[in-house]
Amino acid sequence: MKQYTIAVIPGDGIGPEVINESLKVLNRISQLDGTFSFRFDTYPWGCEYYQKTGEMMPANGIDILRPYDAILLGAIGAPGVPDHISLRDLLLKIRHDFDEYVNLRPVKLLSGAPCPLKNAKPGDIDMVFIRENSEGEYSGQGAWLYPDSPQEVVIQDSVFSRKGTERIIRYAYEMARSQHKTLTSISKGNALNYSMVFWDQIFKEVGKEYPDVETHSLLVDAAAMFMVRNPSRFQIVVTSNLFGDILTDLGAAISGGMGLAAGANLNPERKYPSMFEPIHGSAPDIAGKGISNPLAAVWSAAQLLEFLGYPQWSARILNVIETMLVEKKGLTADLGGSASTVECGDMVVSLLG
Ligand code: IPM
Ligand code: MN
Repeated sequence: MKQYTIAVIPGDGIGPEVINESLKVLNRISQLDGTFSFRFDTYPWGCEYYQKTGEMMPANGIDILRPYDAILLGAIGAPGVPDHISLRDLLLKIRHDFDEYVNLRPVKLLSGAPCPLKNAKPGDIDMVFIRENSEGEYSGQGAWLYPDSPQEVVIQDSVFSRKGTERIIRYAYEMARSQHKTLTSISKGNALNYSMVFWDQIFKEVGKEYPDVETHSLLVDAAAMFMVRNPSRFQIVVTSNLFGDILTDLGAAISGGMGLAAGANLNPERKYPSMFEPIHGSAPDIAGKGISNPLAAVWSAAQLLEFLGYPQWSARILNVIETMLVEKKGLTADLGGSASTVECGDMVVSLLG
């Protein structure tokens, strides 16, 4: 029997609660399938660890994670530790050091999921965001000059390399081609006269290799408007790190809320482990109450299964989530139900069969 080794970083806030449910689901699926199993090794890294040790993870944390088949992450961030430290030293470090340059975020309105858009039906909102995940506005480069003085200046550099830009755009074209979908590139060349003009140019250049793919190019401000007014125009979407960050929260808002928003940080070459996480964050205000919605974490576990080569199980999980939404069974309060985190996870497990 094939065994996958998974490093689990439950993290902070509601991270541990929601991750527990996704582990239950993965274990149930390995039982049902019978051809593979998981070994989960849990690492207690995060803000509590930081408060004890002064580090978000041990200095050799990356070496510890490297041999795993994948990483499951709950959420990072807690009051008392500045976000730019906790996130840069753990979440962003893993994304960067493992060259997880694809951040794949489905924005799909399932039947039964709440949607604030008046006329939107499930089939109308069905896109995949491919967010550049290794550089761009998140390069972490810059300077802070003359602090606390009238001359104070801060510089936050964006870095767009040819390699980094080409590979994310090519990944998106490949997906659009293989799924026979349209591809929309989102940028901002009218104002960002270096980075985004370059992005648009690479989008056109790479596109010459994909004459079969229908493409669109949008400015990010217009794209935000269209996501609300006419979301069905988007299928596969490729965009930069920061624009992808912002637009996928908007995407979550129009497709059931943060409680259903999943994301995969992929190293497509599989040279390093990829990481799967709900995108909602640690939500310290509701942590420990047992009311957080584990379905985003469960959906990200479905992405893991797809990445490991089990698309049928991934589809099965989505099917179960959709059944729960339609029949209003086992849902947590954010989705109008009264189930606890654990009851919601139990419902997924029981509906899996
Ligand atoms: C996300 C989060 C992170 C990001 C934060 C926590 C650094 O918002 O995964 O979308 O900006 O990438
Ligand atoms: Mn975000």
